[in-house]
This record gives sequence, structure tokens and C-alpha cells, in this order.
Amino acid sequence: MAFHSRCFVLCTTLVLISVFSLAKGHKGFGKFVRRLHTIQKPQEQWFTQKLDHFNGQDSRVWKQRYFVNDTFAQPDGPVFLMIGGEGPANPIWMDHGTWLTYAEKLGALCFMLEHRFYGKSRPTSDLSTDSLHFLSSRQALADLAHFRTTIAEIWGLSDRKWMAFGGSYPGSLAAWFRLKYPHLVHASVATSAPVHAQVNFPEYLEVVRRSLASENANCPLLVKKASDTLVELLKDPTTYDNITQDFNLCGKLQIQTESDSAYFLETLAGNFMDVVQYNQDNRAFEVGTLLLIIEFIYCISV
Ligand SMILES: *[C@@H]1O[C@H](CO)[C@@H](O)[C@H](O)[C@H]1NC(C)=O
Ligand SMILES: *[C@@H]1O[C@H](CO)[C@@H](O)[C@H](O)[C@H]1NC(C)=O
Repeated sequence: MAFHSRCFVLCTTLVLISVFSLAKGHKGFGKFVRRLHTIQKPQEQWFTQKLDHFNGQDSRVWKQRYFVNDTFAQPDGPVFLMIGGEGPANPIWMDHGTWLTYAEKLGALCFMLEHRFYGKSRPTSDLSTDSLHFLSSRQALADLAHFRTTIAEIWGLSDRKWMAFGGSYPGSLAAWFRLKYPHLVHASVATSAPVHAQVNFPEYLEVVRRSLASENANCPLLVKKASDTLVELLKDPTTYDNITQDFNLCGKLQIQTESDSAYFLETLAGNFMDVVQYNQDNRAFEVGTLLLIIEFIYCISV
């Protein structure tokens, strides 16, 4: 789970427009209260979404998953939209997280929309290259716009102020959503949003190194030594059996291209990245078990 979002360790929160400047409107509350009355737990809901927002001749649709929490919703309150990212939308966010603190304070109705192609939101029957053509931030933003517009119409929420939330890649989406569709989004909270794309991004590992060094100055040196040793071994195919054994690989290590070596090294480096980025992160309820394991291995091996 960590691979996708570890690029985003730099933590900045952009509040594009103050959360607290939300004005209020009244229309349509009864409509959604009746609709929501039956919902107690964050049950899965399904939204009929367009496959291709940019081709008027393509009328194909699919079912996009979303969740609702109306616990704090006030008749005149805003609507919060948590943006799903590159993984299954975790319903735990419907009753945990800072955004609910804001929801309570502002009387917000809360939605979370899963990102196309992740979790149960599958626009296509397979993941062929032709299908993956429909996996893009551009389409995902249009999904958000269509969801926002349609739900507002159906539930009588058109006069409310809509606020988008997201962290990491969904944080970028939150910022872009506000920039691209300002008439649909009153404000966005873009948390740890990497809005500057960079192909080669060594700064990420510099943060990891600093973090490890803050515990023990020797630690990053040992990690580097281990890594350099492995880089050397990978140049010599006669050591592949050793590597296979040392890392308990499922099958004998096969390196055909430089990319294979890079991938292997990146996978191992990922453990250090993850332990820095995710240690203590929501461990109580989300990915705690995994992190405890990483932390444990890490501490006994270094
Ligand atoms: C909504 O959030 C509140 C506060 O965290 C929680 O008590 C409630 O169970 C949540 N409801 C749903 C449907 O998730
Ligand atoms: C690889 O394993 C063999 C057999 O266990 C051992 O003799 C050799 O020293 C190892 N090579 C390295 C580079 O660790």
C-alpha cells in the first residue's frame, strides 16, 4: 500500500480558501435527510459515472463507489468531499480523521468518493492497455465534477458550499479540483499534495536519511553500506543464489536489465522510506500491523 504514496513525505497543507469562510444555504435539506435516514454505518453507495468525460460519443457508464456520513450535517451546513486516491477508499475515514472535526464544527455533510480503477470502482472489465487509457487524473477530476454536480441536484445540495479534501495524490486532486472547477468547489484542503512533478526526486531520500540519522547518526551509514554492498553483488551473477537465499526470495533472482536491479533495490529501499513516512501514522486503525512489522524488522537488522 505504501508504494503509491511514499513520494509525498513533504508535508504541506494548502488551504486554498479558508474553511471558516463558508456561507450557508437552506434548500433541499429535507430531501437528503429522508434519503440518509436509513444509513447508520458507512454503507457502500454507488454512483453512475461516465467512462469517458471527454468523448461525447462514448455513452458508456460504470458504478463508482462512495460513502456518506450525515452525523454532523446541519440544514445550512457545507458539504465535504473526501477524494479517494490510488488505493481502495477506506470507509474508516467516514468516522475518523481531522476533516470530521471540521465537519462537526461547521455542520457539514460528508462524502467520500473512491478513485476510478481502485478498490471496487472498476470502470472496465480488465486492466488492458486500452482500458487503462481511462485511468488519468484528468478523468478522475471530471468524475469528481460530475459526482459533485449530480449529487447536488439529486439531494438538493446545489446551494451549499462544497469543500474538497485529500492527502498526498488526492491532495493534488483537491487542489486541481478547486483550480479547474472553481464554480463547483468553494475551497480545498490539499494535504501533503505534491503539485510539482519531478521525474528524478532524490530529495525524498534525503528526508529519509535525515530522519534515520535523528535517531542514530550511524544508522543511515549502515543502510548505505548495506545498499552499496548489494549494488556490487548485483553486478556479479554468481552471487544471485546468495542474494536469493539472503532475502528469502520466492524464486531465484533473475536480473536481465538494469531496470530489474533498480526495481529490486527500490523494493528494499522502500522499507526504509515506509518506516519513515508511515511510522505511527494512523497505526491505531489503518495500517498499524504492517508498520509494526516493518519497524520491528528494521530495528533488529540495523
Ligand atoms: C460519522 O462520524 C461520527 C463521528 O466520528 C461517527 O460516530 C459515526 O459512526 C459516523 N457515521 C458513519 C455512518 O460512518
Ligand atoms: C555465497 O554463498 C556461498 C555458499 O554459501 C559462500 O561460499 C559465498 O561466500 C557466498 N558469497 C557471498 C558473496 O556472500
